[in-house]
Amino acid sequence: MLSVAGVRGDQVVANDALVGPIDSSDEWIRRRTGIVTRRYARREVLVEDLAEQAGRSALAAAAIDPARIDAVIVASISWMQTTPAMAPLVAHRLGCGPGTAAFDINAACAGYCHGIGQADALVRAGTAEHVLVIGAEKISDFIEPTDRTMSFIMGDGAGAAVVGPADEPAIGPTIWGSDGRLHGAIGLTHSWLDFKTAADDEHVPWPTARQDGPSVYRWTQTALPQLAEAAIAEAGLTPSDIDVFIPHQANLRIVEGLHQRLGFRDDVVVARDIVDSGNTSSASVPLATERLLREGLAKPGQLALQFGFGAGLAYAAQVVRLPDAVGDAGPGAPGTPSGR
Ligand SMILES: CC(C)(COP(=O)(O)OP(=O)(O)OC[C@H]1O[C@@H](n2cnc3c(N)ncnc32)[C@H](O)[C@@H]1OP(=O)(O)O)[C@@H](O)C(=O)NCCC(=O)NCCS
Repeated sequence: MLSVAGVRGDQVVANDALVGPIDSSDEWIRRRTGIVTRRYARREVLVEDLAEQAGRSALAAAAIDPARIDAVIVASISWMQTTPAMAPLVAHRLGCGPGTAAFDINAACAGYCHGIGQADALVRAGTAEHVLVIGAEKISDFIEPTDRTMSFIMGDGAGAAVVGPADEPAIGPTIWGSDGRLHGAIGLTHSWLDFKTAADDEHVPWPTARQDGPSVYRWTQTALPQLAEAAIAEAGLTPSDIDVFIPHQANLRIVEGLHQRLGFRDDVVVARDIVDSGNTSSASVPLATERLLREGLAKPGQLALQFGFGAGLAYAAQVVRLPDAVGDAGPGAPGTPSGR
């Protein structure tokens, strides 16, 4: 991995702004999720704009000319068109060449880690020399303010990484998979087909995100620990070799629960970007990585276990060596000294 970068929505949204329609409280949301604020992008900022900004920042940090990118992989659940994909548009805007493969993947909150696994395989096989992986979300477009399972969890942002050749492999084997038995546990309330098949007098509401929170929570605490251990073992390591733990920022209780179950060293650094960025789905792992490096809590060259998981249910995990280069997060990023 040559660089990582991220951008967050520019509007800070506090819990108090959301509690009215769900009869909740700031205290309840903090206790159950750890979230204090999340970021929403302004109405006129689209998910492809966030993807482009993050991608541009990752390319600049890695000092790689866009013409040298052989593939752009964009992970998202909030791109509004089934076809065409977002990636060709983003690749074009970034100045990548006509020979650049560009495609989207939808593995929800596990999308970025799927993309890193694919990029690693493409580079190892010699199919690509440099790959840009982006996770981008504007999930505020899919939030129903009265939904008690989701309205307070999600945020907007995009993260990106450039993957390229290295003397020492910096990305370990990817452990990935899915459990379709829980396909209905997280998703949208409606599909596009519902609009077509609805009776003439039937109103189909705009699709919004919802989840069966308790079953998702149980899955994360029962099925995921052994998968994380497998990713570490496949890299030829043990949990005590891991310096930094970067799980998907689903919910702070999930992050802390996994941390406790995994037998890391006491000084392992744990990503907690969810507290003020919210759950940004496919963007959450690169955003958390970018922040740890930018704030100096994690150091380039350290070994990090990154682990995406979410709707599908889908998951992907791999150990990575943290890159030297971090993109400029722009003004207003959490943890950025004022005036920057
Ligand atoms: C969503 C989540 C925070 C809900 O918390 P929970 O403790 O499971 O909540 P439950 O649905 O079991 O409800 C517990 C109580 O809280 C209440 N409650 C539920 N949602 C509430 C809300 N948003 N605000 C206030 N109270 C709420 C319920 O009515 C219930 O009250 P009761 O005990 O008086 O009956 C939790 O399930 C969770 O974090 N799940 C993980 C899913 C996740 O993070 N997914 C991200 C996508 S990967």
